[in-house]
Amino acid sequence: MTTEEVVAITAKHTYGTWRYQKGWKPLHVADAEGCYFIDGSGKKYLDFSSQLMCSSLGHKNRAVINAIEEQANKLSFAAPSFATTVRAELSKLLLEVLPAGLEKFYFSTSGTEANEAAIKIARMYTGKYKIISRYNSYHGSTAASISATGDPRRWAIEPAGKIDGVIFAPECNCYRCPLNHSYPDCGIACVEYIDHMIKNEGNVAAIIVEPIVGTNGILVPPDEYMPRLKEICFQNKVLLIADEVMSGWGRTGKWFAVDHWGVKPDILTTAKGITSAYAPLGLTATTMEIADYFNDHYFSHGHTYEAHPLTLAPAIAAINELRSKNLIERSLQMGEYLKVKLNSLKSKHPSIGDVRGRGLFWAIEIVKNQKTKEPFNSKEDKVSGVSLTVDRLAGELMKKGVYAAPWISHFVIAPPLIIEKEEIDFAVDAFDEVLAIADNEIIPN
Ligand SMILES: Cc1ncc(COP(=O)(O)O)c(C=O)c1O
Repeated sequence: MTTEEVVAITAKHTYGTWRYQKGWKPLHVADAEGCYFIDGSGKKYLDFSSQLMCSSLGHKNRAVINAIEEQANKLSFAAPSFATTVRAELSKLLLEVLPAGLEKFYFSTSGTEANEAAIKIARMYTGKYKIISRYNSYHGSTAASISATGDPRRWAIEPAGKIDGVIFAPECNCYRCPLNHSYPDCGIACVEYIDHMIKNEGNVAAIIVEPIVGTNGILVPPDEYMPRLKEICFQNKVLLIADEVMSGWGRTGKWFAVDHWGVKPDILTTAKGITSAYAPLGLTATTMEIADYFNDHYFSHGHTYEAHPLTLAPAIAAINELRSKNLIERSLQMGEYLKVKLNSLKSKHPSIGDVRGRGLFWAIEIVKNQKTKEPFNSKEDKVSGVSLTVDRLAGELMKKGVYAAPWISHFVIAPPLIIEKEEIDFAVDAFDEVLAIADNEIIPN
């Protein structure tokens, strides 16, 4: 097939996700290696977002590919009711790398399913039904996880498709505080308000948070936030669900974002980097306290592809690669380099409102005016088909051979953990040139 045919058939006969279908001309990705992917014409792109913040080991990692091949030859599938060696081996490994106390696992095939399972487990275990989530969050695309999503992807399913009992708390965003406070004078009022919500709502089973918010802006909370949230949950007998679908597996410079603060969630969900996207795997990890409840109560959940061997084998290989190549520490070190480079961009470009992040997980937020923080586009723009400034800039970056994922008013910078300094320089130089376009469109003071 020619590239033209691939693109035409893909656009006509398959759905483009989270978009108007009209005008969709997907790039034909024909090949990929390391930190790069290559289009149908042979043009090479540096992947500065690890595809969807998931290809952490880069492409064509031999160890992971071999693990899939070996597992396919040995045992491609066994129903979830059977024990398999690969399931036991991965479970042993998870006990070594997950935050302490998370000891029983449910394997699915996406972050969405991991969160669906978490919410269902929390409700069954506590006997309560309300779930607190936060605005500026994304937790997945099906019933419970989209209902718990704070960003505009939720709007289309309301009211009929939304599950009962999900309520939203203010997010922790020190650049755009939803309570109009300033840190540290605020006394982290946003987390104290969650205590107030729980006490006044009653019937709260769990709160689900991305410890470092991903797509919605790489929002890193102050150091007190997560420990205080854990304390509030403990005092009110509410479960803490840490959604580490995007922030896990070294992305932020620790195995998991909660490790920055030593916080132990009751349930941790993850996907993406667990296999470095070589196979679709979701994980819901719970404490033994939660697990024990189901010894005498029906565990009412399951999927045909739960613990599918072809998804588990690459996870073992990917975790071993993260370990043997010291990629968690590398993420922290390279993150320091990236931080300096991004901050130098900020000092140069009046269209940059904020750069923030941890490890190799950063956002560049663009604004029309640094003082007023007026964004180039709104959430309404995102779902109403308006052409977004970030999308336009992302197109210009592609012309320069750099891919960076745009979202409403910022870019999500999350390169493979194997990225080299020269590659960071190359991408930042491309941003430097492209941001001049936004600089020309700012509203001066
Ligand atoms: C924090 C978070 N949770 C859940 C999901 C859903 O994961 P998936 O797309 O694998 O269903 C995502 C996806 O981007 C995510 O970033």
